[in-house]
Amino acid sequence: MPLNIIIGAQWGDEGKGRITDLLAAKADVVARYSGGDNAGHTVTIGADVFKLHLIPSGIIHDTVACIIGNGVVINPKVLLHEMDALAARGVDVSPACLQISRRAHLITPAHIALDKAKEMQRGAEAIGTTLRGIGPAYTDKISRTGIRAGLFADPEELAEAIQAHVEAHNEVLTKIYNMEPLDANVVAADFAAYAQRLAPHLVDSGVVIDEALRNGRSVLAEGAQGTLLDIDHGTYPFVTSSAPTAGGALTGLGVGPKVVGEIMGVAKAFTTRVGSGPFPTELDGDMAMRLRGTGANPWDEYGTTTGRPRRVGWLDMVILRHAHRVNSLTELALTKLDILSGIPEIKVCVGYEIDGVRIDYFPSDLRTLARCQPIYDTLPGWQEDIMDVRDFAQLPANAQAYVNYVSEQLGVPIPIISVGPGRAQTILKG
Ligand code: IMP
Repeated sequence: MPLNIIIGAQWGDEGKGRITDLLAAKADVVARYSGGDNAGHTVTIGADVFKLHLIPSGIIHDTVACIIGNGVVINPKVLLHEMDALAARGVDVSPACLQISRRAHLITPAHIALDKAKEMQRGAEAIGTTLRGIGPAYTDKISRTGIRAGLFADPEELAEAIQAHVEAHNEVLTKIYNMEPLDANVVAADFAAYAQRLAPHLVDSGVVIDEALRNGRSVLAEGAQGTLLDIDHGTYPFVTSSAPTAGGALTGLGVGPKVVGEIMGVAKAFTTRVGSGPFPTELDGDMAMRLRGTGANPWDEYGTTTGRPRRVGWLDMVILRHAHRVNSLTELALTKLDILSGIPEIKVCVGYEIDGVRIDYFPSDLRTLARCQPIYDTLPGWQEDIMDVRDFAQLPANAQAYVNYVSEQLGVPIPIISVGPGRAQTILKG
């Protein structure tokens, strides 16, 4: 069986959690491959809302084994908190159901302190990170000074590594950022306790996934963040510090490209972004409020991890084409189509104009991107509430036309459309 990959095709928050939950019903293994607890994946089953930050969304299915791959950075405190919360709701998070790559790097309180210090120092130029220590943890990984989860199996070496790590970062925190030092002994004691609980979950994710595939089991790679937050292919420097794209799925799990089957992009029927940086189709005023919602509902456009209101705008095909090229998408899931109901005319950006010249690709530098004026197609909207529709043919004609338009523009089929937050509020288009 192949490895199928789920990728965010925009700036994150596309609804990957619910699509993973849907596809996990047919998978044996679900594996996260990038990011950390900066992600917030929401799965809604009836009245139950599960908000997951680190644990793959497949965990809600009791027949699915979940893996946190080597490409993920793990804050063990957050992970244990999430495991305990799930266990309290009857979800099995034992080592048989939840495994952690020995090669995954750990996020420590020093990383979180540094993330905050750096953002404060950037002032008006702040990236708007989630302040979860993600950037500093990946910095240590790339600098070859990080601490890997595998040390949970070696308490003595872990204690030494944590001591040295905190002391080294205290130098920077106190001397460069004028912050209070962290107490290395306290951090080491906390990590010793985390290690005791997490050591039984350690595996080599590449070996486990390879074995599963060889035994005919199907594996789903669950992306976090999105293509435009990719360290290389996103809106640098307003990006995260990992590779949420298809290439990242391979390096973040430890398998090669030949095992890949479908690569499903997930995109909202409009666009959102959190944090700073240019956003060509951004809206303000009434239409922005209309798309964002008030925050009264869990599905309104407020960050799952930070609670920040998201910036919103029309759908941007330039972005989706970029995501298609970077990831080789074989299909697309279109989420939140219901939010567009009741809007008389819906705009879709089909290209950008700079100084009277049209461009159809996503620029690599932000100065150029900031000058891009969107070129729109305008499509007729629909008035009907579509949240109870389960059959594509039952959607209003203009809603069908909108989905078909996106599919044709992108050259990728759209087999999944979501029309509400619930697991059942999904249209599967044959
Ligand atoms: P970091 O990943 O916390 O370093 O944040 C870097 C940028 O990525 C910021 O603009 C964040 O808002 C954004 N970001 C990180 N994770 C997510 C996510 O899961 N959804 C949307 N934006 C995210």
